[in-house]
Amino acid sequence: MKVILMNKNKEVLVAEYDEEIAAFTEICEIKNIDYAPMILKREYQKHGNIRNELSEWFKGRGIPSWRDDLDLLLSRLDISSPEELLNKAFGLSLSDQYFIKPFDSEIEYKDINFFDHDFNCADFTNATFSNNYDFSTKISLMSPNNTTDGRLKKTWIIEDNIRYLLKGGYKSEIMQPFNEVLATMICEILGFECTKYEIAIVSGKIVSKCPCFIDKDTELITAHQILHNNCEKTNAYEEYIKILENNGIKNAREKIENMFVLDYLLLNEDRHLNNFGIIRDVNTLKWLDVAPIFDSGQSLNIIDFNEEEIIINGKGRFFYNVESFDAIINHIKDFSRFDVNKLEDLPEEFDNLLHKYQEITHMSDRRINKICTLLYSRINKFKKIIDENNL
Ligand SMILES: Nc1ncnc2c1ncn2[C@@H]1O[C@H](COP(=O)(O)OP(=O)(O)OP(=O)(O)O)[C@@H](O)[C@H]1O
Ligand SMILES: [Mg+2]
Repeated sequence: MKVILMNKNKEVLVAEYDEEIAAFTEICEIKNIDYAPMILKREYQKHGNIRNELSEWFKGRGIPSWRDDLDLLLSRLDISSPEELLNKAFGLSLSDQYFIKPFDSEIEYKDINFFDHDFNCADFTNATFSNNYDFSTKISLMSPNNTTDGRLKKTWIIEDNIRYLLKGGYKSEIMQPFNEVLATMICEILGFECTKYEIAIVSGKIVSKCPCFIDKDTELITAHQILHNNCEKTNAYEEYIKILENNGIKNAREKIENMFVLDYLLLNEDRHLNNFGIIRDVNTLKWLDVAPIFDSGQSLNIIDFNEEEIIINGKGRFFYNVESFDAIINHIKDFSRFDVNKLEDLPEEFDNLLHKYQEITHMSDRRINKICTLLYSRINKFKKIIDENNL
């Protein structure tokens, strides 16, 4: 099928897409490479032929093979692979404005995008989160849920005309949603720009809920795309900041530092390169800002918890490396701007939050106590670092 890759109203390129193998077999014409996904534009500048990269990028828009409980979801959707979903809704997403348009179609962005047009979210939410599912449900596949990334079960919903992302815990673990809320609490207290997560209950399960931080005029470009073939891997942190500054992003260093301070406090193990990035205007291609901090759920040692002890992992991701949190925090230049005393009441507030949902989570008092003690010790540890650096 001949298609045009669009970025909102701009034609990027014309290509042949083979639905059977979910891949592009030929690029027929480049129209406007500047409006291509950043990773494709860079590959194009390097070697011209981006057919394979285009296929890879498009496949990467789909639900990943490592999505929690993927087989169950696929059987409920009555499809055999996530790739089958890719062109069901033009490949549209709520994290950017790319889509594929059949070559002979008159359809326009304004007719189909999911920012303006509602989609049925109840059925997909059910298919994702419920224990009892009616297999006779005919789910509408015209939805942005065909193109969500990440390991955790998730679904886009609409409430009061706002698009929210619901995200569960991993397998039987229920801390991720609470950690997202904790991250929001810390960011609000310390004045960091963040995506605002709250707790919601769906099909009797605890999930996190956050509003979409992209709108019709913007796209998320992750650090992975920004850095791909564009930096010395050994110096990626400084190069990343420089790239952002050179593209007009204000206070880039401070904002990146804020994210790593949050990760230090939370022992967030999962700040990989697709868990932060920038927001770009899709009409002007102007870089607007650092994306508000998102996906901080893999924190407070939730992988290594057992009832007896909390094993402090102590390592986080730092660009292309895994480093101890103590090493990561050393990259921060100015500690004087963090008023950590404001976090004094946080362990108690988090304790209250965990107790509030205890009837649903069945989290033991002992576990809640350990988690909040760990949080308290992280805050104190950070306080000490600040004091030492401000001497
Ligand atoms: N509020 C949002 N608005 C727009 N896009 C979002 C939002 N939150 C997440 N995304 C997009 O969805 C992707 C998946 O979300 P998220 O990273 O929270 O999921 P995850 O399953 O926890 O990921 P991981 O595999 O890193 O653990 C993000 O990488 C980002 O591209
Ligand atoms: Mg993620």
